Amino acid sequence: MPSEPELATRAVTAQRAAARRLAAAGVASPEHDARALLAHVLGISPGRLVTVDELTVAQAERYERLVAERADRVPLQHLTGVAGFRRLDLAVGPGVFVPRPETESLVEWGLAPLRGHRHPVVVDLCAGSGAIALSVADEVPAATVYAVEREGDAVAWAQRNVAGTAVRLVHADVAGVLPELDGTVDLVLANPPYIPDGASVEREVAEHDPPAALWGGADGMETVRVVIATAARLLRPGGAVGIEHADLQGESVPALLRRVGEFGQVADHRDLAGRPRFATGIRVGG
Ligand SMILES: C[S@@+](CC[C@H](N)C(=O)[O-])C[C@H]1O[C@@H](n2cnc3c(N)ncnc32)[C@H](O)[C@@H]1O
Repeated sequence: MPSEPELATRAVTAQRAAARRLAAAGVASPEHDARALLAHVLGISPGRLVTVDELTVAQAERYERLVAERADRVPLQHLTGVAGFRRLDLAVGPGVFVPRPETESLVEWGLAPLRGHRHPVVVDLCAGSGAIALSVADEVPAATVYAVEREGDAVAWAQRNVAGTAVRLVHADVAGVLPELDGTVDLVLANPPYIPDGASVEREVAEHDPPAALWGGADGMETVRVVIATAARLLRPGGAVGIEHADLQGESVPALLRRVGEFGQVADHRDLAGRPRFATGIRVGG
């Protein structure tokens, strides 16, 4: 019988073995995820892992189970229950889209048009976990921020995230939403479902992100069209819209914005990885 100390696993050994297993399973960032899961099991930040020598049997077993799930391509954020987005940690899990780092660029762009407004009104269409709305509210505390989401499961996660904040969560389809705000909104931001039906996506996405968050019809633009119509209705003259899109829609979404005739200064923007990521425009008229 091994004595109790011999049962303990060296943390660094377990972490290396986990990274090898995740790499073999095709996980995109195996070292990062192995660290993040170990830190999650230990209830510490990844930066403090260097202070841990050994895992208890219970910790090692829990780590092993989580690594096995990650190797089976369950998203890291579903296993830890948290997704970082700009300055926030958001609760996420089955039933809600995991916020992506590339969407942070859209929020960054959206903050600029708000400068100079004492009490701007902002609407996040297709809000999911509430990542965009909550970030704007966090970084522009004087703003009145609405978050619109249609799917009940996603709304339940958003409710958790907006609790204790001033964000106004609206459980509705973006079509026809918030008519009382027509012509008064300063900024509309949206990360709608935009993947063309049938496109191939990673297992984490296909099996764990909700279908309503992903698929945008044959050309990927079904919800984008509704978002543009709703933004045109909600925005005041001079108000701004920013809409995230797929890599291949860097021309088609700006073209759609120009075609409706209610937006000027239409432009497309790249994310930090240099890929076309979101289109913007300014509501004309007066
Ligand atoms: C790609 S996710 C984005 C979530 C979040 N804004 C983010 O960036 O992490 C799109 C979200 O739009 C919601 N959605 C799809 N169609 C919608 C519609 N017609 N009206 C309202 N919400 C919709 C989905 O349920 C999903 O939560």
